[in-house]
Amino acid sequence: MSLQGLLQRRCVLVTGKGGAGKSSVAAGLAVWAARRGRRVLLTEVGDETTGHSPLARLFGREVLPEGPEQLGPPGLRGLTLLPRTGQELFVGTVLHTTTLARAALSSEAIRKLLNAGPSFREMGVFYHLLTLLRAQRPDGTPEHELVLIDMPATGHTLSLTGLPNLLLKLVPRGPIAQALREGQSYLNDPAKGEAWVVTLPETLPISECLELLEGLARTRMPVGGVIVNRLKPDPFTAGERAALRPLVERVAVFGAEELLRHELRGRELQRLTSATSLPVLGLPECALDCLRLHSLCEALERGASLAEAARCGCAPNALPIDAPLAALADRQRTSAI
Ligand SMILES: Nc1ncnc2c1ncn2[C@@H]1O[C@H](COP(=O)(O)OP(=O)(O)O)[C@@H](O)[C@H]1O
Ligand SMILES: [Mg+2]
Repeated sequence: MSLQGLLQRRCVLVTGKGGAGKSSVAAGLAVWAARRGRRVLLTEVGDETTGHSPLARLFGREVLPEGPEQLGPPGLRGLTLLPRTGQELFVGTVLHTTTLARAALSSEAIRKLLNAGPSFREMGVFYHLLTLLRAQRPDGTPEHELVLIDMPATGHTLSLTGLPNLLLKLVPRGPIAQALREGQSYLNDPAKGEAWVVTLPETLPISECLELLEGLARTRMPVGGVIVNRLKPDPFTAGERAALRPLVERVAVFGAEELLRHELRGRELQRLTSATSLPVLGLPECALDCLRLHSLCEALERGASLAEAARCGCAPNALPIDAPLAALADRQRTSAI
């Protein structure tokens, strides 16, 4: 089961197009990993201008705290990754004093100048992340065994994953290079880090997902797999499809769009599975009031491999994705969760 590998990693990025379900999936994965006994730190790159956090809202908060706090089940903590915190930590290391670093960075002019420079924002995120990954308990084990990051839009993900290599060209030696190499190992070593790409079964999100996979490969970021979110069961049987097809080709009938849309989703899924050898897991669309975290991660765990099904030559609309769908529907009927 490809998701199991995630439990062994130190650093997992959940990425993809905005609106595809990254925050929901990141939250689901974090709860799931914590329930399997990992000490999990769920983070997101904080929005310093709006402070808006859909991820925090999944845990009944307005924003995630700046320091780690327990979020949901035992073993799950959360915080917001702030570029500014990382920048202060980083400049403090270079200058050997945090007071001076804080004073310098509290000048708006200096901050504007630095943030305008390429990658200084990512550098802050990167260094904050590295500090969290380094943190140890008194017995020498990691404070946070798994750091899971709900990433912002695609471009920012590639800026972060490509950052160490870019900066190492400028600063190949010394303490900064050392920190960059250390952070790079959490991102590029498949034993330590991996990304999961969340997408939707539609044309543009699938195209963007394939581009993102290319970008991740370019920046040498290992990828655990792709999660296709919001899959809907086919409302038609094979017999109904065969009967309806000639009808919708001749006349515009009510419901034709639904028939065609489902076929389009099937084709898009096949385009994805034939373009990548990565595991592709499916997540069902669930009514919003039923979108509870643990049913989401259980559905993830049961997610059938669409790639496997495609290799067996199954028709896209017969993909064994109904298993998690059925399981989820049962739970929704029998419990209020
Ligand atoms: N499987 C799903 N079924 C139904 N609604 C979903 C599902 N996954 C996400 N959503 C909804 O879609 C919207 C966007 O999800 P979100 O996780 O915030 O996406 P992102 O972080 O990629 O922008 C939210 O309103 C969320 O509740
Ligand atoms: Mg989000």
